[in-house]
Order: sequence, then C-alpha cells, then structure tokens
Amino acid sequence: MSATNGTEAKPQIATKPGFTHKYDVKKHGLKFLSQEDADHFLEKGYVVLRGAIPEDHLKMAKETVWVRLGMDENDKNTWTKEEIHMPRHKMWHAKDFAPKVWGAMCELMGGEDRVDYKTASWGDSFICNLGNPEYDPNEVIDPRDLGPWHVDGDWFRHFLDAENQALECLVLYSDVEERAGPTYIATDGIGKVAKWLLEHPEGSEDMCDPEGSGNRVVPNIVRECKDFVTLTGKTGDVFLCHFLTPHSRSRNHIRNSRFIINPFVSFAEPQQLKRENPDDYSLIELKTLHDLDCDWIDFKPTRERYRFLPRTKAKKDALIQEEIQRLKEWEKKTGNKYESMHENGIVYWQAPIMGLSEA
Ligand SMILES: [Fe+2]
Repeated sequence: MSATNGTEAKPQIATKPGFTHKYDVKKHGLKFLSQEDADHFLEKGYVVLRGAIPEDHLKMAKETVWVRLGMDENDKNTWTKEEIHMPRHKMWHAKDFAPKVWGAMCELMGGEDRVDYKTASWGDSFICNLGNPEYDPNEVIDPRDLGPWHVDGDWFRHFLDAENQALECLVLYSDVEERAGPTYIATDGIGKVAKWLLEHPEGSEDMCDPEGSGNRVVPNIVRECKDFVTLTGKTGDVFLCHFLTPHSRSRNHIRNSRFIINPFVSFAEPQQLKRENPDDYSLIELKTLHDLDCDWIDFKPTRERYRFLPRTKAKKDALIQEEIQRLKEWEKKTGNKYESMHENGIVYWQAPIMGLSEA
C-alpha cells in the first residue's frame, strides 16, 4: 500500500497489509477490561464503563453548577443559552476520584507507564446542553446532518501516531437520554479518519483539506458512515473512545438538562504502529491498525509535532470572571464557601498541561 494524495509526491510509507493480531486480556494481565471490552474496542473503538464514578464525587462536583450558570434548575425560562462550555474551577486526578476509569484508560493505552500522568487531571468544566424551546420535540434529524462532526484536538497538529490525545473520554454528569442531546459517534469513521492521516504524514492543525482551506475533513467522512451510536446512559457512566472517533453534539429536543465533561488523556510518547514484539501494541494502536487492515505501519511524520493554545480558550476564560462573581454572591447569600482555583486571580490551566509557557 502506498500513501499518496492527488498529484503531490508523498513519501512512501511502508506497511504490512492484513491485520492478524489477536488480543488476549489474560495474557496481558488486564484487571479492569474484560475480553468482551477489548474485542468491542477493536471492533467499535470504544468501551462503556457504567456507574464508574462514585456518587459522592458526582454530587460534590455539580454542587454549584446552577449558581455558576446563573440559571434556575427548576425554571426553564432562565435557560437562556443552549450550549455552554464551562471553565474549570476544581480539578481531580482520575486515579483518585475514578480509579476504575483510570485503570481502564491505562489498559487501553498499554500500561500506566505509557500515560502522561498529569493529563488525567480532570475538572468541573461541564459542557451543558439545555436545548432550545424553538426545537420541535418530534423532529428527526439524520445523524449525517448534525453538522458539527469533528475529532477532538484544537491545540496540536494531528498525526496518525499522535501522543497528544489517546482517548476521547466522555463522562456523564447527568442522565442522558435519547433526544436529550446525547453525543453521537460514528464508529465506522475511525478507519476513514485514520486513512486520511496516513495519507497526510505532514499532519494537520485544523483537519481541513488542504490545511487552512476551511474544507473540514471529518464532516465529509461522516457522510459515508453508517454506524452511529448515541452515548446515552446514567449519571456516572463513562465512555472511552479511540482518539480518531468522529463525534458530534445533537439537539436537546426534550430539554432535560444535560451535563458531561469531555476530557482527554495523553500518551507520554508518540504511539508506535510498528513494534518488534506484537504483544507491546496498545489496544489503541491495534484499533488503528485493525481499521487500516495492516499488521504494522512504519509511520513517520514529515513535519514537526506542534502544540498551540486551544482555539476555544478565550471563550472559556471569559466565563471565569462571570462565574466567580456569581459564586461570590452565592457565598454572601448562603454563608456557604465556594472553592475555585481562580479565587485569587485566573489560573490558566491549559498551558502547563500542554508544556507551553504561560500566555
Ligand atoms: Fe469533541
């Protein structure tokens, strides 16, 4: 197989066509994922961990969420914004507050030593989908027409063997039903995105073809997809998806308040799609090879790896002051004490995580 694109001469990437690997959870000594989980990950690219977050954490993390929003949970007339990407005030390491999730992540990533430990510090940066009273509750939308299909990562140049984002993680902080704005994933899009990245060893900062053109690759890929899954469940359920999983928000037709967090976790080093010992492949690497139907791929990026400040950062940072103000008023009114890393001035958490100096 050669990786070429149109008329441009691209370097040949050596591959061994035909995926033959097997993954045996007993041989790998897994404790958190079953054989069924591993097989499902190789087939569909995600695992579901039901009830994986302890209840006391869920309650504590959401305690002031409506205060921060400046809305009344029980009065939908106050729900004046449809989707809000809230900034974080508190953070916790997954290993501490969600050991089952941490365990499963490590197993998908090929062991704890392959995880960039600090990146599994997650916070209360909820993504709320509160719906819109103008939506027709009976409207049916074809998933291909949802619009904002994407793969995550607005802060690094994407490569097939990226270390920046190992998993697309999704934690439910409210019950999420069908038609109440669940996240959609296109499981048969993983291989198509992987193929595009294989054909673009120069990587991409915006997943547009060509870069900077605004022609987004993922929505076009999803046009050809057939296997859509809605990530519905109960509060405390967690979905761990392969990093190249196309996903999209959907309309909250029935206006149940929907809260999730959508954090990432990074590898300490770039992935290796050609390993001497096949037992050393992580399940994530194997999923990429599986969907490209190769036993190995000698992938080497032709441009430098590169990180930059997230495009969504300014919008989120702007909300911090507003939320702090509301929390201060709430503190005065109720006598309760709020806790926030921003109490004494805004803390820009992304920069140290990304290994950048403060901006
Ligand atoms: Fe996303």
